[in-house]
Amino acid sequence: MTLQATRPAAVLPARGVPRDELLRTVFERRADDAPWREGRIFSLVYHPGSPELEELLAAVSREYLAENALNPRRFPSLARMEREAADIVAGLLHGTPGAGGLTSGGTESIFLAVYVAREVARGRGIASPRIVTGRTAHPAFAKACHLLGVRQERVPVRADRRVDVEALAAAVDEDTILVVASAPNYPYGVVDDVPAVAAVARDAGILCHVDACLGGLLLPFWERIGEPVAPWDFRVEGVTSISADIHKYGYSFKGASALLWRDPAHYRAQWWVDDDVWGGGLYGSSTTAGTRPAPPIAGAWAALHGLGEEGYLRLARSVRDARDRLLAGLAGIADLAPTVAPDLSVLEIGSSELDLGAVADALEERRWWLDRQPGGLHLMLSPYHREVVDDLLAALRAAVDDVRAGRVSRGVPAAYAAVP
Ligand SMILES: Cc1ncc(COP(=O)(O)O)c(C=O)c1O
Repeated sequence: MTLQATRPAAVLPARGVPRDELLRTVFERRADDAPWREGRIFSLVYHPGSPELEELLAAVSREYLAENALNPRRFPSLARMEREAADIVAGLLHGTPGAGGLTSGGTESIFLAVYVAREVARGRGIASPRIVTGRTAHPAFAKACHLLGVRQERVPVRADRRVDVEALAAAVDEDTILVVASAPNYPYGVVDDVPAVAAVARDAGILCHVDACLGGLLLPFWERIGEPVAPWDFRVEGVTSISADIHKYGYSFKGASALLWRDPAHYRAQWWVDDDVWGGGLYGSSTTAGTRPAPPIAGAWAALHGLGEEGYLRLARSVRDARDRLLAGLAGIADLAPTVAPDLSVLEIGSSELDLGAVADALEERRWWLDRQPGGLHLMLSPYHREVVDDLLAALRAAVDDVRAGRVSRGVPAAYAAVP
């Protein structure tokens, strides 16, 4: 891929653009953006279908447009929001209050989990640390390992797409400092066998991170509405850290994940502290960024308080309803089926007969943007999808008919995120 060189370079306008004109430009340019409010996309937006919540988040973030979370002494209200948000998520996951904080998202939480593991490894004299994950672990682990000079061994998953724990155990050696389980993994939406992965870590005396970026704010409520949930959180002995994104099923806007530790000492190891040699005074920072935007912290705190337990339970029921109706409808479409039964609300639809790239093209003609991955079509259901699931099923049936009749041929390849 080459960087696009043909577009004219943008330049700073000589005079400020009047507000109305500027906003008109914004609205015009958004014409090609995916219409997420209509529930026609998946995974990039977690749509609760609540104008009241959106209004609340906008109001609270407006209050914190200028504040900086770098210095908690200057903005104690913000520091308190971060502590309270992290404690609330820790409480939901049966974790340790005070042993975690917020980051900008799942990728940063994972980066910091690998960073702390590397520091622990160094403390033990391991010069070339490595981590062991399933093949289905999110690419954020590979990225973190690359940036931190840590090796990653990716072991296979079983037919049910859960990590093969025997292979994982066999891959652990004296340089291994961390093993990983997903709750659930992104591609197939199934939760790894966390107790078995954590037992491997315990036996080896190493760390075990559960990547619950996706499920961390849904699984606690999934359990309370009576859905089967296998043990996955801090109730499982041997789990040492969990990442749980508030900007996913916590329904705050982007920029908020919780990284939680069982042991407060591991949280302390996450902090970079620089003395005053540089001339600017003591510098302490818990994340990769220095200056940290305040709105995502205020937004995360507001979403948790604005929805409360009752709100999250209601939204979990909506997600379940969308999932159940989607699965029931899919069962009536020949040649389409979930690759494996999803544990929550995330799934891959596969087919042994149909070209699913062509089905995705036919769906896009009908203004439905399903995510494409090598094994099929990926769906991440939000509460709002409950309102549109019947329309989606009708579009799927029509798209399959188009492909069977040879009216569409395959176009765009599978991609999770763009490259330049
Ligand atoms: C399982 C899992 N882990 C980590 C991430 C990374 O989160 P983010 O995109 O917020 O950095 C995702 C994103 O979808 C995910 O599904």
